[in-house]
Parts: sequence; C-alpha cells; structure tokens
Amino acid sequence: MEMIDLRSDTVTKPTPAMRAAMAKAPVGDDVYREDPTVNRLEEMAAEMACHEAALFVCSGTQSNLLALMSHCERGDEYIAGQTAHVYRYEGGGAAVLGSIQPQPLDFEEDGSLDLEKAARAVKPDDYHCARTRLLCLENTQAGKVLPLDYLERAAAFAREHRLGLHLDGARLFNAAVKLHVPAGEIARHCDSVSVCLSKGLGAPVGSVLCGRRELVEKARRWRKVLGGGMRQAGVLAAAGIIALSGHVARLAEDHENARTLALGLAEIGELSVDPTAVQTNMVFVSLDNGRTALLTEFLRQQGILISGRETIRLVTHLDVTTEDVHTVIAAIKAFFAQAGR
Ligand SMILES: Cc1ncc(COP(=O)(O)O)c(C=O)c1O
Repeated sequence: MEMIDLRSDTVTKPTPAMRAAMAKAPVGDDVYREDPTVNRLEEMAAEMACHEAALFVCSGTQSNLLALMSHCERGDEYIAGQTAHVYRYEGGGAAVLGSIQPQPLDFEEDGSLDLEKAARAVKPDDYHCARTRLLCLENTQAGKVLPLDYLERAAAFAREHRLGLHLDGARLFNAAVKLHVPAGEIARHCDSVSVCLSKGLGAPVGSVLCGRRELVEKARRWRKVLGGGMRQAGVLAAAGIIALSGHVARLAEDHENARTLALGLAEIGELSVDPTAVQTNMVFVSLDNGRTALLTEFLRQQGILISGRETIRLVTHLDVTTEDVHTVIAAIKAFFAQAGR
C-alpha cells in the first residue's frame, strides 16, 4: 500500500527528474573541490541566499553544528530557543564536539526570540562566564515565519552585542514563499544560514551552509574533521540542484494543502486545531492523550502515517497531494464517527 506520510517533510522520495539528474551528474573528488556538480550547487545556494559562499553537507544537523563551531570557540556560548532544533534535537553536538555551551530561551508565540530577554542573557565580559558569541534563530519555527522587520532588528541586536547571527533555515524557502520574497531577503540579515534540501524541497540528502567565504572555509575544515568530507558527492548534489531550481515555488501548494487540512480538521469537534495559525506546511492538532495512540493506529491501517503524543504535527510536502489531504480528513472523521470515540 502507498502510504500517505504526514509525519515530516523529510520523508519525500526523489522524483524521477532527480533520479535522472543523479544518474548522469558529472562528478569528481569534492574533498579536492573537484566535483563540478557540488561546486555548481554551492554557487547556486550562495547566490540564492545572498551570501558569498556555501558548503554542501550531509544533513541539517551537521550544517548547524559546523556553523556553531565556526562562529564559536571552546568556552563560548550560543543563545537559542528552548525548543530550537539546534539546542533540543541535535544530541547536544555543540557541547559534545565543540565545547560550546547553549543558553536556551523560551520562544515567543510567533517563533521569535525576545531580544530584550536575549540582551539579559548575554554574559558580561567576566572570566566567571562563558563568552556569548552567537544568536541562533530558526525560520520557519514550528511552521511559523519570522517577520522581516524582526530579522532586521535581530541583526542590529547582534551587531550591537558583537554576536554572530546564525539562522537555522531548514525551511528557509517555506518562509520565503510565504512572504513572497526571494530567500536572500531573509538570509541576508544573518551571518550564516543553514538550508535543508531534503525537507520540503524533496532532495534525498543534504543541506547547504551559506555565509561569508572565511566562515564557510572554517566550516569546510570542521566538516573534514567531523568525517563529513564526501568524495563523488555530485550524485547527491544533482538532486539538490533540482530541488533549488524546480521545487521552491511549488512549496505554495504544500502551504495550501496544510490550510485545507486544518480547515477540514477544524470541523471535527473532538480535535483542537486553529486553521488561522497555519502559515506554511505544518498543522498542529491536539486531542486527549489516550486517543492519539488509537487514532495513529487506526490511520496506519488506512495507509496514513502520523506522529505525536499530546500534540500531533501534520506536515504536508512534495509527496502529499490535495486528494491525499481529503482522504486524511475523511479517515479522521471516520475514526471519530465510530461508536465510543
Ligand atoms: C528546524 C530544523 N533544523 C534542523 C534539522 C536537522 O536536519 P537533518 O535531519 O537533516 O539533520 C531539522 C530536521 O528535522 C529541523 O526541523
């Protein structure tokens, strides 16, 4: 059975065009910088992000870690959201491998970090304290888009406090499409930005870290140290090129599908979902804890995959059609229509 998979936008399969491009990609040894396809992808990503240079890496986690290790030295500190991927979901990599300490702050309702709270978290120049070096933002954050004027203020804040500004832009293009601006309009405010090719953009593997040439060169060194130097990586980069050149504008379809899904689910009294909160490709739904497991199993038997406990996150992407969305709404209605639910 072909499953409708709403667990994440990481589950997309490479399209036939991607597979064809991968099969015929010219390749070379990327550690020697001789892979023409990787070089092309990096140039393309840097240009789209309005940055000097870019580095192709295996994952968003590695890209964020390389950014942290390139901005910070041993004993330094980065400020990030309490539930930011770079703090909560990357295995403590910055601490484990970079000797860099996090300073988490609660995200605000809109996915931003309050800059006054961030200012209070910046440590004084005192050897009792870690040196605060970096502010990390996430865009989109749980599907929410940071406003452009906030990014401008965050950049000014970072300059004032002599901090770098890193953006975990795993879903940068979802934000750009939602705002109807080129991605560079968002990324240019930051000193570095990590973009995932393997989420809504549909590539099977890879992220790009964009920034100043000097910073990216530092990251290139750390990538090798971490064992992330890839050789004939052009076969992967070829799919990334298709992702960047052909799959950006269509993210609007995912956003529309997410809205349709939220509107359909809002008709179900047993669910709590706010369609007006849906900005990009994520819908958050809650229902009583015990029934989440029952619903998940019911849907699995219908060929629909979801995940979550108290709150279920439903993610639309390249491999979810509008028809699939209607199938999902109907299946969830059927679950609650059954006696005793
Ligand atoms: C916001 C965010 N940043 C970074 C990552 C890490 O990406 P990867 O799974 O490629 O390591 C993810 C993955 O889901 C993410 O959602």
